[in-house]
Amino acid sequence: MARKKKRIGILTGGGDCPGLNAAIRAVVRTAEVEFDMDVVGFRDGFEGLVQNKYFEITLSQASGLLARGGTILGTSNRSDPFNYPVLQGDNEEYVYLDRSSQAVRNFESLGLDCLIAIGGDGTMSASARLIEKGIPIIGIPKTIDNDLVGTDVTFGFDSALVTATDAIDKIHTTAQSHHRAMIVEVMGRYTGWLALSSGLAGGGDIILLPEFPYDIEAICEQVRVRNARGKTFSIVVVGEGARQQGGELVFRSKIKQSSESTRLGGISHQVAAQIEGLTNIECRVTILGHLLRGGIPSAYDRILATRFGVEAVHMAEQGSFGSMVTLQGSKLGTIPISEVAGKMRPLTVENSLIKTAVSLGICLGVPVGEDLNKYYENPIPEDTASAASLAAANSSE
Ligand code: F6P
Repeated sequence: MARKKKRIGILTGGGDCPGLNAAIRAVVRTAEVEFDMDVVGFRDGFEGLVQNKYFEITLSQASGLLARGGTILGTSNRSDPFNYPVLQGDNEEYVYLDRSSQAVRNFESLGLDCLIAIGGDGTMSASARLIEKGIPIIGIPKTIDNDLVGTDVTFGFDSALVTATDAIDKIHTTAQSHHRAMIVEVMGRYTGWLALSSGLAGGGDIILLPEFPYDIEAICEQVRVRNARGKTFSIVVVGEGARQQGGELVFRSKIKQSSESTRLGGISHQVAAQIEGLTNIECRVTILGHLLRGGIPSAYDRILATRFGVEAVHMAEQGSFGSMVTLQGSKLGTIPISEVAGKMRPLTVENSLIKTAVSLGICLGVPVGEDLNKYYENPIPEDTASAASLAAANSSE
């Protein structure tokens, strides 16, 4: 008897990043060419699963995607099926409903064997709960923040790093001409992977990370020491989740419909005002923001996204569900999605990039030469880690 053709669903959730289309292409090609499977793409992340918005992705639709930024599926970071925003009433106010059973019904009605969910911690948290409700899911990790547990690297990170490094290189020349301290703020949410890596690659003199709440005197001292050495400019790279010792995080907006409702951004203005006030050196601020999420994926991300996509389809063929694909060193592996959900991976004092920065005499916002352990604080806010479960506890279908 002929074997039933397998049918897999795919969606991209959370903030977009370069490499999503490369991963979609890899999934569709492997599914069709190696295993003769059909692929159904859900539009706009979990919104498509809840609202049954989907299309069959053929090989020809997946062609030409390797180098294209964004995602042909669309994405959303406001569509948690367990805390789904719905406009209600004459005032069109949002209420939050548990639409997860609808998501399961839609999945089943399409006759799918499994769902490949490409996303960050929000997508993995929702996936973990959908797995409990019976949807067989395979995760693929993406985010420019590189903050997912279980994998050394997420795709999207390297492309954002290339963009940030290019920006810092450009800032360097104008900093030199005007003898200014230039503050460059990069995304990365509550962890400093992108700030530290781009700071190292771009030759930052001071790098402020969420993991080390900063001491403004230590920063100004580094600027003064450089001036005394004849270096009349400084480059300060700031992660958006950085904050002063004893100070607060700086947020640029609140988005009610998102299960993680706050958006970081703007701390660099505070840093600039403080440096200018204490040193009389002129400062300027550049916030790179969503520029870091756009554009074509780097060669590294194209390859990583492709490897993840191929591996996810191999797992689908083997019936190995409930795990996320990972990269450990240079080897692909897997981790149960339940172990990824609701967690983030901060930098640690032992991280080799931190040690590299220390050896170079880069100021990490605390006095140069002192024991970093004294200053380290886990930057992950508890309420963010449990946001998904809190949201779910407050909603009903
Ligand atoms: O998680 C990716 C990311 O770009 C973060 O670095 C940033 O804090 C956040 O998403 C921005 O989200 P939004 O696109 O909703 O403004």
